Amino acid sequence: MSYISVVVFSILICRSWSVDQLKFPPSFMFGAASAAYQVEGAWNVSDKSPNLWDKLIHDRPELVADGSNGDVACDSYHLWRRDIEMCEELGLNMYRFSISWSRLLPSGYPNYISEDGKNYYSNLIDGLLEKGIEPIVTIFHFDLPQILQDLGGWANPLITDWFADYAEVVFSLYADRVKYWLTINEPMMLCDGGYEELGAPYFDDPDVGRYLCNKHTMIAHAKAYRIYDDLFRDKYHGKISLPTLFFWFKPFTPEDQEVTDLTIDHWEGRYAHPIFSKEGGWPRKLEKLLNDLAKKEGYKQPRLPPFTPEEIQLVRGTYDYYALNHYTTRLVRRVKPGEQPGQWLFYGSSELNTIMDKDPAWGTTAVDWFSVYPPGLREQLHWLNSTYDVKEIIITENGVPSLDPDLVDTQRLEYYRDYLEQVLLAIKDGINVTGYIAWTLMDNFEWLNGYVAKYGLYAVDFSDPNRTRTPRESARYFSAVTKCRTIHPTQDNTKLNYV
Ligand code: BGC
Repeated sequence: MSYISVVVFSILICRSWSVDQLKFPPSFMFGAASAAYQVEGAWNVSDKSPNLWDKLIHDRPELVADGSNGDVACDSYHLWRRDIEMCEELGLNMYRFSISWSRLLPSGYPNYISEDGKNYYSNLIDGLLEKGIEPIVTIFHFDLPQILQDLGGWANPLITDWFADYAEVVFSLYADRVKYWLTINEPMMLCDGGYEELGAPYFDDPDVGRYLCNKHTMIAHAKAYRIYDDLFRDKYHGKISLPTLFFWFKPFTPEDQEVTDLTIDHWEGRYAHPIFSKEGGWPRKLEKLLNDLAKKEGYKQPRLPPFTPEEIQLVRGTYDYYALNHYTTRLVRRVKPGEQPGQWLFYGSSELNTIMDKDPAWGTTAVDWFSVYPPGLREQLHWLNSTYDVKEIIITENGVPSLDPDLVDTQRLEYYRDYLEQVLLAIKDGINVTGYIAWTLMDNFEWLNGYVAKYGLYAVDFSDPNRTRTPRESARYFSAVTKCRTIHPTQDNTKLNYV
């Protein structure tokens, strides 16, 4: 579909919608997201050095569902102008993308800045701004330079300075134009996933490596935040946060509430409590539970590496908004006698002895653990609002996977409609949600799922050397939403009339 038809289409839709619907406030920002390794390709172009994903799946293609990799991906390194055009077609206020550390700093350190890397992101930022689209830049989205991985990566405490040095370069190059920053994408997936063989570095070290990584991401984030505060904030007045991957969790029965609260601490608290809570540091109850467990298992060191009082102060309060990556809701309960805990992150925890599952009443998707339960988002926004003293929340990822590349993606369209409705309701409840970023702009390299799982508003033809992008029905709908700033067609026509 051409740009013109997207625009004409959304004007028609706006007309057919009744005016008494809830509306997103005029300042509310709509966006879509991507990440460097997932879209850029050009893995060895110019002076870029390999990152840990390049290395891992070049060496072990069998780890990826379809044996693919991100060598070319969506080729956004060359097709970034088309990406901007798509953001424009969608009527976006923001585009979230990430910077590839090994493209900007091929040595991993700031001793050498790649001219091509620097220009690539600079052009992308300028191109977005020319169209009135705010860049929201993730400094790090899973793609560590291999050279730093060889030194231990996120398990090495020195990474907190390596990251801070890298972030300072990024700020010094782009903070004049970028007002929204995200430091480290989903440290939960990075650490818990990376040390439980769900992603790179693909280690099986859930007792130690995972928790070292956990602590180091907190310190690295804080150091970057403080650098922005000290050197850039007065001049540029930007906002920084760290996006958490936070499914919403509900108890199977009221008796499971306590273990559900612990699960929230285990998932989100380990990555958010140090930053967003008043007292800082690890969530207390969880810290004790995990450290007692480590002792029982014969470890001499605590499971959660302790923060010094100085480190607690360093990390506490290093946010300007809460950045939430929400996808789904899970039910939680303790295992019953004779049962095994859930085998991996999305199914439970052997440390908490839990099982996670879905409610049969919720909508299903192509992916077993991924249910559709829109009210979970509103419940979670309430929880965030009452748990932390956050003045602003931006939903930095939300979206649904499918396995087929169909352009008529009714489920995705309805997912966006129903989750956006919950955002509207939360705003009506008085929660200051100021932005919503869809995952994702276009189909891309879905980590160990390769190109099998599709999340895109735009379909990408990966067999075409031009990586042609085509809007799905969900893109047409999204563009209508951004223009009308409401989600519903007329009351008596709840099915969107163009599906
Ligand atoms: C990650 C993305 C990923 C998406 C869908 C998020 O957790 O930030 O990189 O593609 O989930 O799996």
